[in-house]
Amino acid sequence: MAYEVAMKALVLSLVLGAVAGIRPSKLVRRQVPAIYVFGDSTLDVGNNNYLPGKDVPRADKPYYGIDLPGSGKPTGRFSNGYNTADFVARKKLIPSAINRGVSYASAGAGILDSTNAGKNIPLSQQVRLFELTKAEMGPRVASNLLSRSFFLLGAGSNDFFAFATAQAKRNKTATQSDVAAFYGSLLSNYSATITELYKLGARKFGIINVGPVGCVPRVRVLNATGACADGMNQLAAGFDAALKSLLAGLAPKLPGFTYSLADSFGLTQDTFANPLALGFVSSDSACCGSGRLGAQGECTPTATLCPDRDRYIFWDSVHPSQRSAMLGAKAYYDGPARYTTPINFKQLARA
Ligand SMILES: *[C@@H]1O[C@H](CO)[C@@H](O)[C@H](O)[C@H]1NC(C)=O
Ligand SMILES: *[C@@H]1O[C@H](CO)[C@@H](O)[C@H](O)[C@H]1NC(C)=O
Ligand SMILES: *[C@@H]1O[C@H](CO)[C@@H](O)[C@H](O)[C@H]1NC(C)=O
Repeated sequence: MAYEVAMKALVLSLVLGAVAGIRPSKLVRRQVPAIYVFGDSTLDVGNNNYLPGKDVPRADKPYYGIDLPGSGKPTGRFSNGYNTADFVARKKLIPSAINRGVSYASAGAGILDSTNAGKNIPLSQQVRLFELTKAEMGPRVASNLLSRSFFLLGAGSNDFFAFATAQAKRNKTATQSDVAAFYGSLLSNYSATITELYKLGARKFGIINVGPVGCVPRVRVLNATGACADGMNQLAAGFDAALKSLLAGLAPKLPGFTYSLADSFGLTQDTFANPLALGFVSSDSACCGSGRLGAQGECTPTATLCPDRDRYIFWDSVHPSQRSAMLGAKAYYDGPARYTTPINFKQLARA
């Protein structure tokens, strides 16, 4: 399929794949007119199902979606049910049309175009797609709508997975200058993405930082004792600190720019420290998978399912369970102040 044609097909499908099939309660008043979502598989609501290519990651088979009310069928979400984008959207709007919200998020995408290139909609392209959506609205609707809308971004984990894989292939650990160069390109490209969206009319940014990527079952299983890869976690934490400074520095330069930085890293570490308190019995294994830690095989129709999906932090070897995603969205929306900087998603929506 020619790229142009693919892109047009994609814009259509993205509208259909708009965030959250959840019917909002009549009692919930919308706090923002629309939500636009950019990022990776933690926020993808099915876009990759429309991309050509056999290496594109797709959650289009059971047991994905097994807990979705009504259907129990896979929708492309990398979850047993809804994902973080759904739960954030659920707090505020009726997602049914381009002027109510669209998700451009794509599994496998990173901050860098080079991450898993050719197998997802890269972040820079997601911004181009949003530009097409904006054009479709027309200038009057757009100027009225976009500055009040919520822009949800979550990306970076895939860049860290790709970086770690590349280092392992070269059989060497990253030097300080490798890391500095990597951070530099992540930060400059994330900054460019945010600034670009701002120029297109976005003002309210909810940005989810990179979690402890060294603790996902797929990484843990590489260690004989199932321990987290501390080096990968430190790398992600270093980036998160730099992202915090980046946003603080960007704010005064962009009039009207408001943001909430959600601390996925801190929240996940706190959850790992005391999983039982939150009702989790497993914090190191995939609920759906096979082999050691459920992480030696994909989540497919022949995989093993854990007995109680709500009691696992991880759904598959990389992605959170629906319940983890729900708790994350709740924490970012109006949870303890330590999980958001400088304001929470609720305050951002009302700002
Ligand atoms: C970084 O951003 C620039 C400008 O948008 C883009 O041309 C480039 O491809 C990006 N680089 C990577 C590695 O994503
Ligand atoms: C990688 O390095 C280790 C330790 O130096 C060595 O034992 C191993 O053979 C190397 N592997 C490859 C593929 O070069
Ligand atoms: C496995 O994890 C332990 C505990 O963090 C660590 O000491 C050890 O070096 C790790 N092994 C490998 C092969 O990375």
